Amino acid sequence: MLTIIKGTIVSAPALGRLDATPNGYLVAENGVIQGVFPTLPERYAGAPVEDWGDDLVLQSFADLHLHGAQYPMLGTGMDLPLLDWLNAYAFPTEARFADPDYARAIYRRLARELIENGTTRVCMFSSLHTDATLILMEELEKAGVTGYVGKVNMDRNAAPGVLEETTEDSERATLRWLEASRDLRLVKPMLTPRFTPSCTDGLMAFLGRLAAERDLPVQSHLSENDREIEWVRQLHPDCSQYWETYAKFGLWNGRTVMAHCVWSDERERAAMKEAGVTAVHCPDSNVNVCSGTAPVRAMLDEGLKVALGSDIAGGDHLSMFDVTASAIRASKVRRMTDPARPAFLTVPEGWYLATSAGAAFFGEAPGFAAGNPLHAIVLSDDELPQPHPLTPQERLERAVYLRQKGAVRAVWSAGRKVFSAEG
Ligand code: GUN
Ligand code: FE
Repeated sequence: MLTIIKGTIVSAPALGRLDATPNGYLVAENGVIQGVFPTLPERYAGAPVEDWGDDLVLQSFADLHLHGAQYPMLGTGMDLPLLDWLNAYAFPTEARFADPDYARAIYRRLARELIENGTTRVCMFSSLHTDATLILMEELEKAGVTGYVGKVNMDRNAAPGVLEETTEDSERATLRWLEASRDLRLVKPMLTPRFTPSCTDGLMAFLGRLAAERDLPVQSHLSENDREIEWVRQLHPDCSQYWETYAKFGLWNGRTVMAHCVWSDERERAAMKEAGVTAVHCPDSNVNVCSGTAPVRAMLDEGLKVALGSDIAGGDHLSMFDVTASAIRASKVRRMTDPARPAFLTVPEGWYLATSAGAAFFGEAPGFAAGNPLHAIVLSDDELPQPHPLTPQERLERAVYLRQKGAVRAVWSAGRKVFSAEG
């Protein structure tokens, strides 16, 4: 099967670089990208072309940290810092997912909204409920969202009587969830200890063994907030830093994704780099729950893997266009407040983090590289003011900050067209 998309093709082949091919052709065979061509190669002559005129053809997004079970509270509960926010808002919201019918309705809508916003790859937290987690995975797969979902493990410091599980429940449920999700093709399980304060040592050790035995990826939270970090220090006096509480249980390697890392210092960052852990920067959430401004420039300079996350519903924007703009703004705050005066993120850098950097976790090469599965969006900006011609790079910059209604016109995920505004 051949897919040929014609338009102004822009991609991020390296941090800080954008490649643009006006009136170009993005070609995929059997869902695998063959290349971007300024003129259609002879071998494709006569094949049907989807011609999007002057529209932008862009890589779709990878959202490497979000909470599906917090989608119902999106845009609310913004008046408390992290730990109080968890107890007052996040836990009671997640508790609703004990009801599979509720989960089905909410997750179906979330999956559709992700696709409509051009997010085709995710690392997502569900809730602690096995059935709801399986429903989430099914709904994502049906809608065309690919990636990883985790049943949340939390056997301490939860919400008694509302949202809690014993160690035994948690272990048994995790095994059942892994068994039941075996046949899914595009959405795979990811072990998800909520964060160190939520998991006993016994549960952490169980998850570490499982990760090793079954070669499973791991996601969690790290060094997000001052009170959280102090709490972890009290819980694990043998660990001099937060990351060690994951490392000592085998939950710290090249398939680990850690959200936030706002307060990760040089030593913690060195540990991330050495292990190949991916840091997920969640700029909206970091402001909303009063966590801080992550040292993203230092992470990039030091060679860490860094991607972006919406972290809904600590974050208030599902669209990764908005998250990209927030990451750039956060880097400017860091520039203004950090005595080291780190350079802020440019738009091409922000775009790379939201697309290629996240896609790397799923094994893709940067940009529209040949051999990647086709993950792409078509974006219209013809209804925005056009007082003078803009370069493709300027159009992309504007798209990050400003989009017309219904700007995302079409979406491909893992080679398949999963959305078309034409219906
Ligand atoms: N740390 C532990 N759980 C959460 C959560 O749900 N959201 C955020 N932002 N941080 C957390
Ligand atoms: Fe989170």
